[in-house]
Amino acid sequence: MAVGIFDSGLGGLTVLDAVSKRLPDVPFVYFGDNAHTPYGVRDAEDIFNLTTASVERLWDAGCDLVILACNTASAAALRRMQESWLPPEKRVLGVFVPLIEALTERKWGDNSPPREVEVKHVALFATPATVSSRAFQRELAFRAIGVDVEAQPCGGVVDAIEDGDEILAEALVRSHVEALQRRMPDPEAAILGCTHYPLMEETFQAALGADVRVFSQAKLVASSLDDYLKRHPEMRGAGTQSMFLTTGDPQAVSNKATQFLRRKITFQAA
Ligand code: DGL
Repeated sequence: MAVGIFDSGLGGLTVLDAVSKRLPDVPFVYFGDNAHTPYGVRDAEDIFNLTTASVERLWDAGCDLVILACNTASAAALRRMQESWLPPEKRVLGVFVPLIEALTERKWGDNSPPREVEVKHVALFATPATVSSRAFQRELAFRAIGVDVEAQPCGGVVDAIEDGDEILAEALVRSHVEALQRRMPDPEAAILGCTHYPLMEETFQAALGADVRVFSQAKLVASSLDDYLKRHPEMRGAGTQSMFLTTGDPQAVSNKATQFLRRKITFQAA
């Protein structure tokens, strides 16, 4: 009954951590495509090819349902996967929708027409590929009207996090927040639209100020997965073992992941 969690690298571990706390009886198979991270600077074709190859490996590990714990893949590849690639007995879910439902105060699966919501000025921090896809604005427009979104492509942050360079990551976050504030001085809410960014949440919050409500994905995705599995228990795949797979060097990735989650994580070669 395993469920797959995919990311280009380590960022999806923030989601893995939250889903395994929420669903302790479900085995999760994590796949990090560390050999090809970051995805955020790649084009859509490249992201589609890398994501589908990784998801196929998760099918082989006994997962019928895979969470793309990667906004970049969710933004650039998910729709094409669902429309033209996915076998009928498999499911792939992205991480955007739970976030947008929280922002727009909607319950899961509420398909009523878009309506006015409380927040009017939203700052979106994401990778360059996610920002240029405009997937966030597209999904938001299905649910809310009159929301002004200012998006900041946060070049360099994922590399700094993957390299374990916290000082550089903090400096980059502060400069991306300043750049956004020059265009939108007073956002009411900020979306951390990359699964790597929850690790920098305090830096984002400090740079934005205490009045800005920061939305981060991990917990929102965990509760929406819980809800999904209750309604679709058949989507728990045949796998019985939790494991961590990587296309990178398993030892190096395990060391970084252990530092990242502050608990021992052991990756094996995908
Ligand atoms: N953590 C991923 C995301 O949520 C991908 C970052 C990257 O590979 O650039 O977008």
